[in-house]
Amino acid sequence: MEKVLDEAKQGNTLVLEAKEANSKKLYIESYGCSMNFSDSEIVASILVDQGYNTTNLLEDADLVLVNTCSIRDKAEQTIRKRLEKYNAVKRENNPNMKVGVLGCMAERLKEKLLEEEKIVDLVVGPDAYKDIPNLLKEVEEGREAVNVILSKDETYGDISPVRLGGNGITAFVSITRGCDNMCTFCVVPFTRGRERSRDPHSIIAEINDLGEKGYKEITLLGQNVDSYLWYGGGLKKDFKNASPMQQAIATTFAQLLEMATLAQPKMRIRFSTSNPQDMTEDVLHVMAKYDNICNHIHLPVQSGSTRILKEMNRQHTREEYLELIDKVRSIIPDCGISQDMIIGFPTETEEDHQDTLSLMELVKYDFGFMFKYSERPGTLAARKLEDDVPEEIKKRRLMEIVDLQQKHSAYHTHKTVGKIVEVLIEKESKKSDKEWSGRTPQNTVAVFPKENYKLGDFVLVEITECTTATLIGKAVGYSENH
Ligand code: SAH
Ligand code: F3S
Repeated sequence: MEKVLDEAKQGNTLVLEAKEANSKKLYIESYGCSMNFSDSEIVASILVDQGYNTTNLLEDADLVLVNTCSIRDKAEQTIRKRLEKYNAVKRENNPNMKVGVLGCMAERLKEKLLEEEKIVDLVVGPDAYKDIPNLLKEVEEGREAVNVILSKDETYGDISPVRLGGNGITAFVSITRGCDNMCTFCVVPFTRGRERSRDPHSIIAEINDLGEKGYKEITLLGQNVDSYLWYGGGLKKDFKNASPMQQAIATTFAQLLEMATLAQPKMRIRFSTSNPQDMTEDVLHVMAKYDNICNHIHLPVQSGSTRILKEMNRQHTREEYLELIDKVRSIIPDCGISQDMIIGFPTETEEDHQDTLSLMELVKYDFGFMFKYSERPGTLAARKLEDDVPEEIKKRRLMEIVDLQQKHSAYHTHKTVGKIVEVLIEKESKKSDKEWSGRTPQNTVAVFPKENYKLGDFVLVEITECTTATLIGKAVGYSENH
């Protein structure tokens, strides 16, 4: 029942156009959040310059890289299974193959990974990808290579990522790295380091480049995008030590969002993820002012109980969160809102769980990602609190929350029947090669007959029926944005 972020994408391999002079083959597989998929594009871009072309045939690879996720134990177990698979291929087909672990598991386990997983040659944390060429030399000389140093200022702003395995229509643009929030359950502050923002000029240059290449939608990406703050480089926490001049000309998220919007007024702009305590009203006003910013906010709450929110070190109460929702709805009446929820956090009582259900009733989220609490070694919750909600109870509570979310998702899709919505065509529908699939600004999937419309078209679709999560309709013309 557990829903996982971008489930369909998990484990995707990335392939890009071959560069003729390159003779070595790279197989790169990614797990976890969008940031990891975006990082893999940076890694591939670095390796193209080292003579590698990408392949999706594991058996052919000279170098296998897996970009890993540590967010829940299950994610790590999935990756350990993949490492077993690589090992089998190495033994049977390809003894010279080298294997590298990137991302959050690399950062969390460091050298231990080399001991635990005998086939791993290379361990690289999220801030050390530029060092991969040097590390590969070490490996070629027969040494094990590890770099898990976290950085104060690495944002990869100077690397133009190759767009891998994509549809040529939607792309991620990373704007912040790391996270300072220290939610007590979360491993991210340990694996991705302190929060820092990327130079707005390099962000806008990347967006303009995507625009020229025909991309139609970008998502500004970060663990906490609303906290974005550029004051010439450096950690967010050091902003208070910046010069008065630097502080005065700093760029906030609302300003960056407006810059992106004005740079590419025909492109759809999205952003993810928002943290309730960092979301400011000026962001909502920028969203309301410009049509090309999609009316959707991913606003994880994790729990509806103020007591549990406090144990999680989330920086707001249930009431403050609900006030923010009211503000969103009054400034952007048709805004889609989605959630992340953790079920069975230590000490969660039946009453806390009821608070979560009642908060969901009040907000009626469009969709959400719901997880059973998974204790992560080293986090404050793991050190201070016993994982004391029995598995059976976690399962039951998760089911209740998923059921309620489905009811609310269906409420939203049913409400849309009879209306005309804008859809950007992204791909062929999974169910039928005669239908297109795309998303509304609110981020709900819509499918409709292809007729003469093409990939990348902005289309107006009249919705005639729906399932819980999908709108079904018929195109009635191009949208104004086309
Ligand atoms: N701010 C981040 C959050 C990353 S983690 C972002 O950009 O989305 C994504 C979600 O995983 C969190 O919102 C939380 O709901 C869930 N999660 C994080 N740590 C967890 C844990 N230890 N157990 C279960 N779920 C967890
Ligand atoms: Fe994790 Fe909380 Fe940051 S969920 S990524 S510590 S906002």
